[in-house]
Amino acid sequence: MGRSIIVTGGAGFIGSHVVRLFVNKYPEYRIINVDKLTYAGNLANLKDIEDKENYIFAKADICDYDAMLELMRRYKVDVIIHLAAESHVDRSIKDPFTFARTNVMGTLSMLQAAKVYWESLPERYDGKLFYHISTDEVYGALELTHPNGIKPPFKTIASSGEHHSAYGEDFFLETTKYNPHSPYSASEASSDHFVRAFHDTYGLPTIVTNCSNNYGPYQFPEKLIPLFINNIRHRKPLPVYGKGENVRDWLYVEDHARAIDLIFHKGKISDTYNIGGFNEWKNIDLIKVMIKTADRLLGNPEGASLSLITYVTDRAGHDMRYAIDSSKLQRELGWEPSLQFEEGIEKTVRWYLENQEWIDNITSGSYQRYYEDMYGNR
Ligand code: NAD
Ligand code: TYD
Repeated sequence: MGRSIIVTGGAGFIGSHVVRLFVNKYPEYRIINVDKLTYAGNLANLKDIEDKENYIFAKADICDYDAMLELMRRYKVDVIIHLAAESHVDRSIKDPFTFARTNVMGTLSMLQAAKVYWESLPERYDGKLFYHISTDEVYGALELTHPNGIKPPFKTIASSGEHHSAYGEDFFLETTKYNPHSPYSASEASSDHFVRAFHDTYGLPTIVTNCSNNYGPYQFPEKLIPLFINNIRHRKPLPVYGKGENVRDWLYVEDHARAIDLIFHKGKISDTYNIGGFNEWKNIDLIKVMIKTADRLLGNPEGASLSLITYVTDRAGHDMRYAIDSSKLQRELGWEPSLQFEEGIEKTVRWYLENQEWIDNITSGSYQRYYEDMYGNR
């Protein structure tokens, strides 16, 4: 069946992988990428699919309610996959207003436009879906009960009986109480609440998913992994916050896109799914893996870049540990990550080293000129 799908934030990191997957896999679907092209949005991320017949790009701000309603009417949209957001914790600490505007008011504007448009149709909400992509950071922080990691056998986790953590006793479940700490996670938590409120109040068909840290190609080089790979290449310091002891749960971005595809087609309306890789790493250990891989690929002697590690003042309110329990998604829909971390990090380091031009373009602002060449000044 043909579907008309708006993907918001499709020029960003995760959004571009979602757009690529859907455009290539479902030629019968029309994919409308709605993106404001902030510093984080880059049409060069989608060069390989921009000429496909089932792909449309619309430069627009999700906070512009009238524009969103007009796009939904023009393209007879029946699904929204919502990824447009401000996404960097450090920026949210400096500029919380932008996060409230985009993540809270922008999501509200998308919800209200979808409600008004779908309620105007004879079939109303039949066959419609508002799928909101969110983060595990809404749950707050978990304790680091084993700072040095414990050797297997680890404690078995309650919900699945199958997975393990070297760093703590507990995981984020779909039922974990929200407890956001940063302006970023507070704004994402608020947007999740609005989505659920629209389901509970108006019957809008919604799904929310909360995912752990993603890594892979096309991530803006202000986030840990692309920033550090780029700095290793240029022999610049690697700013490790605090003692580098914080733990994150890393998922390869294409595995996240596959999960979104599956949940979009098979997920239960009004439900929530956690997505994660059962792949926890202490920052400093992850950084050492990146250094080892990058030095090898650059032809440097082993350990040559270890001296670039520079411990700097910790991030304010730095969450200690994130760890997602995604066994509900595995159990109910059969999803699991396809890539082992060793393979994923090798692919990722290699991609950034081979795509220096992409990094230079998006950090120099020439992608804005690329956009104007492609689409004119609209
Ligand atoms: P990103 O910062 O790479 O991309 C965000 C995109 O949204 C950009 O293309 C930007 O131009 C666009 N955008 C921003 N404000 C807009 C506005 N007002 N109107 C229209 N477009 C706008 O973000 P990402 O890492 O791809 O994250 C996407 C979503 O997934 C976010 O909601 C984020 O919280 C969530 N998420 C991210 C991660 C991660 O590790 N990156 C993990 C879990 C969840
Ligand atoms: P980041 O990629 O910003 O993702 P998030 O804060 O959403 O998890 O950071 C990942 C981890 O790396 C986090 O614990 C903060 C740390 N970090 C550094 O130590 N140095 C840096 O320069 C950056 C950007 C992050």
